[in-house]
Amino acid sequence: MAETIRVLVSEADVDARIEELGRKISEDYAGKQVHLICILKGGVFFMCELAKRITVPVSMDFMSVSSYGDGTVSSGIVKIAKDLDESLEGKDVLIVEDIIDSGRTLYYLMEILEKRNPNSMRLCTLLDKPERRVKDVKVDYVGFNIPDEFVVGYGLDYAQKYRNLPYIGVVEGVE
Ligand code: IMP
Ligand code: MG
Repeated sequence: MAETIRVLVSEADVDARIEELGRKISEDYAGKQVHLICILKGGVFFMCELAKRITVPVSMDFMSVSSYGDGTVSSGIVKIAKDLDESLEGKDVLIVEDIIDSGRTLYYLMEILEKRNPNSMRLCTLLDKPERRVKDVKVDYVGFNIPDEFVVGYGLDYAQKYRNLPYIGVVEGVE
């Protein structure tokens, strides 16, 4: 069977939800500047779309952390491949992630970033698979809770493919 993609969340639904999140974040950060931290590569599409809908001043930085190889199963190993360029001292940090699965990546990352003395630190994820949680991480903003299925699109990949899909889908026909 050839690889096909079944749509789980349509482009219109993703866009509408990001609009709502942008509005909520703008209200919550009223009078402040929000420092968005994009977790590469998966978080990049979501962060750009979200940033465009935030009306308070925004600054951005990028970090690359990997906990997966090219497959669909967590290796349990988390490594910083690219660190942030700027200090977090005194900033109101909002981490922007594509998906929280086991929670291992973010649990580890937030421990490291907390030590850099931000004024506040919150977590925003486009997708959450709460059933899969191994490490307890507090998620402040969630786009969609989804079932335990491997998803692609809107930044998420399967073996580096499908990140550019403008919707969230499930890969089918993989052996
Ligand atoms: P965690 O450490 O298990 O929470 O894994 C988080 C990372 O695993 C995410 O940032 C993704 O890069 C990747 N990941 C987890 N689930 C999926 C999925 O369904 N599709 C694509 N990547 C995923
Ligand atoms: Mg990721």
